[in-house]
Amino acid sequence: MVVKTTVMRGPAPVGPQHFVMHSAHDSTTCTLPASPASAALASHAQEARQWQLTALFDADPSRASQLSFEAAGLLLDLSKHLIRPDTLQLLADFARAQGVETLRDAMFRGERINLTENRAALHPVLRLPRGARFDWEGEELVGEVQQVLDRMQAFAERVRSGEWTGHSGQRITDVVNIGIGGSDLGPAMACSALRPFATPALRFHFLSNVDGHATDAVLGPLDPQTTLFIISSKTFTTQETLLNAQAARTWFLRSGQQKDLARHFVAVSTNAQAVADFGIDTANMFTFRDWVGGRYSIWSAIGLSLMLAIGPEHFRAFLAGAHAMDEHFRQAPLERNLPALLGMVGFWYRQFFGTGTQLVAPYHQDLALFPAYLQQLEMESNGKHITRDGKPVATPTAPVTWGSVGTNGQHAYFQLLHQGTDLIPTDFIAALKPAHAHSARHRALLANCFAQAEALMHGIDGPSLAPHRRFPGNRPSSMLLLDQLTPSTLGSLIALYEHKTFVQGALWNINSFDQWGVELGKTLASRILAELEGTSPAAAHDSSTAALIARARTALG
Ligand code: F6P
Repeated sequence: MVVKTTVMRGPAPVGPQHFVMHSAHDSTTCTLPASPASAALASHAQEARQWQLTALFDADPSRASQLSFEAAGLLLDLSKHLIRPDTLQLLADFARAQGVETLRDAMFRGERINLTENRAALHPVLRLPRGARFDWEGEELVGEVQQVLDRMQAFAERVRSGEWTGHSGQRITDVVNIGIGGSDLGPAMACSALRPFATPALRFHFLSNVDGHATDAVLGPLDPQTTLFIISSKTFTTQETLLNAQAARTWFLRSGQQKDLARHFVAVSTNAQAVADFGIDTANMFTFRDWVGGRYSIWSAIGLSLMLAIGPEHFRAFLAGAHAMDEHFRQAPLERNLPALLGMVGFWYRQFFGTGTQLVAPYHQDLALFPAYLQQLEMESNGKHITRDGKPVATPTAPVTWGSVGTNGQHAYFQLLHQGTDLIPTDFIAALKPAHAHSARHRALLANCFAQAEALMHGIDGPSLAPHRRFPGNRPSSMLLLDQLTPSTLGSLIALYEHKTFVQGALWNINSFDQWGVELGKTLASRILAELEGTSPAAAHDSSTAALIARARTALG
């Protein structure tokens, strides 16, 4: 037996006091696994699609407090969503029926829940405090994790203090992290987010794209004698990273010598052999294990550039913030569990309101890279069309995650949020206290953030208003408030979204920890590269691809 739910493709219908943006069209039948919980949820959703947020507030004066939740230094206000407290109960019942808690506990125990790669997903172990124990398949893991952290700390202290110098005896002034995906986005985002905590003695650069323009832009202004490269790659086989690392080595050897490389190149990887083959002394290598997924690796040695920037103590506070969220996620009932709530509410819109995208709008300049970080986290984790049992999914999975900082977005794409034809649930993120002294401007920032959420919800209408001045409103958002953006709250924030992603994967019954979808493009790119290099004869391609290759070959000679 299956439970069929009618999903409205397009915006949610809105009530009579607001104009209907366009009629619901292209309704699709999406199949939830049959259970009393899914049946109750689906029938509740039919009703919810008629709700008006403002009416929900009028009907329940305690709504804001009932739908606000706090944990690990974060406040999550869900009251501007098209939900009621009983919606959360029904979602939690459904999540239980889907085995979310069972899978969560299996993850924390270290079961190999990444079925297609036969791996555990044990990134929370990286955040366990020193002195804790974690026994896994005959090994104790916390000791090993702490040993790596201690090595990172010793290295970071030497570089930060100036004891570790370049080959000519000069202090290191610039650190270049070469990596891509999880080996870039996490460190780049966190270094930018924690800019006020970073040492002014070092500048940080992130080289990810195989595009030589990026290489020139990063290396151009640097001095090889005072530059330290961190080659970050879980596999140490990623084309972009290896090509960029080779380019960096060539650049360095224009003035330095082979014997000097060890002062300027260190590696972070799980693959010691490939690091040695590349020519980096494995004494200068920091390791982690295959139970850390690339997009979950900022907590591992991949965080070396972050530790160099903010120092070991702040890095440990960052881990502790994430650990606090882990404990909350492990223990709090789903009805009051921040990652579960965020995940379930996202599922609610995707399943029952046909939303195709999810906006993340940090009102904090230092979180400018957070949406890009979340794109990998959510879309690489849950952009899947096959269930954990290898069958085609019957429901939509991850929406497109996108966004950028407020207030900038307000002067670019917010028009569409307010008056466009799509329903786009939005996560606003803000810190109450800034890390600067411009308090008047911080008030202006917060005022804009709160005003956007209010405007999206209320809209404005009335017979005296010309149609183009009307806002339908009833557009939902979350408000996520931090007291201040610190290493600890950033750790909690990232872990919140990691576990939100996990919850959604469990609700959709997909494997959130593999990424097979990236492989085909990599294989085809290698084949085409050989053709562009002229080392392999033209292969069979469609006429479009063949013409593009021919044109590029002519242009490049
Ligand atoms: O191609 C996708 C991916 O495998 C990501 O999952 C990963 O974060 C990135 O490439 C980089 O991989 P690596 O750290 O092995 O170089």
